[in-house]
Amino acid sequence: MQHLSHPHLLSVKDLNRLDLDLILRRAKDFSENFSPKTPVELLHGRVMATLFAEPSTRTRLSFERAMLALDGQVLSITGADSSLTKGETLEDTGRVLSQFADVIVARHPEHGSIQRIAQGATVPVINAGDGIGEHPSQAIQDLYTIKAHHSNLEGLVVGIVGDLKHGRTVHSLTQVLAQYRVSFVFISHPSLQMPRSLIAELEAQKIAVQETDDLRQAAASLDALYVTRVQRERFSDIETYEDLKLAYQVDINLIKLLKPSCSILHPLPRVGEIDPAIDGDKRALYFEQVRNGIFVRMALLALLCGDNL
Ligand code: CP
Repeated sequence: MQHLSHPHLLSVKDLNRLDLDLILRRAKDFSENFSPKTPVELLHGRVMATLFAEPSTRTRLSFERAMLALDGQVLSITGADSSLTKGETLEDTGRVLSQFADVIVARHPEHGSIQRIAQGATVPVINAGDGIGEHPSQAIQDLYTIKAHHSNLEGLVVGIVGDLKHGRTVHSLTQVLAQYRVSFVFISHPSLQMPRSLIAELEAQKIAVQETDDLRQAAASLDALYVTRVQRERFSDIETYEDLKLAYQVDINLIKLLKPSCSILHPLPRVGEIDPAIDGDKRALYFEQVRNGIFVRMALLALLCGDNL
């Protein structure tokens, strides 16, 4: 029987290298044996509750698809329909959802909110995004996709471009990739740089980090380019958002500067920063990345609430 070292998945800090390698192996097994019509009966009789208090297409549906693929069942509620709107605390919400489900998957706009749900819960809790905090399952899905294409991660130069200040996916991804000894080039407008605390954590691990605002100049040095959208919902001043939203665009001209082997990723949704004209390029992996989310989330659900592995 194999389990992760922590009962919840709240932060990528809950995962050591052995955990990550185990999740990647399980996800690969699930991807190789996936049969849309025939579930693997690992979570037969188990129930997953999802509580999304922020919009989601991919994360919510891929967790739901993963649970169905494991022969489990799903209960879902949005924040707007929940008793959070009546003032119920996040801790009580976690305790209540635990009466109905064997695992809870939650997204909420406040940084640290999912930790509070886990404090009240008596079943495993997975953070599906807490404000500008973290999005750990997305980071593992990204790691899985990069590894599937580059096999050996050590020494890769990974460029991350866009809204590095607010992008919770990149806050989680950098910490996960650091465990595989990649180096980073962070490309952003000066007002949307990666938080200093995260840079300091990477430097303390002796991970090489460069920062620039020039994507074209950095392009040729990259083995992977991870693109993010500027997060409109995190700006109080919409004019500033409008000025910054298309500071970087990955299009036919830009990808001519990339290596022939450079993978292009995006957690999606995209809102103009990747031109659909490049979708057919073999380096564009973002829709494959979405599909990989099913297998990674199958692995997470099986490892956190299964007992048959
Ligand atoms: N990548 C991601 O988190 O997408 P959703 O917001 O659609 O879940």
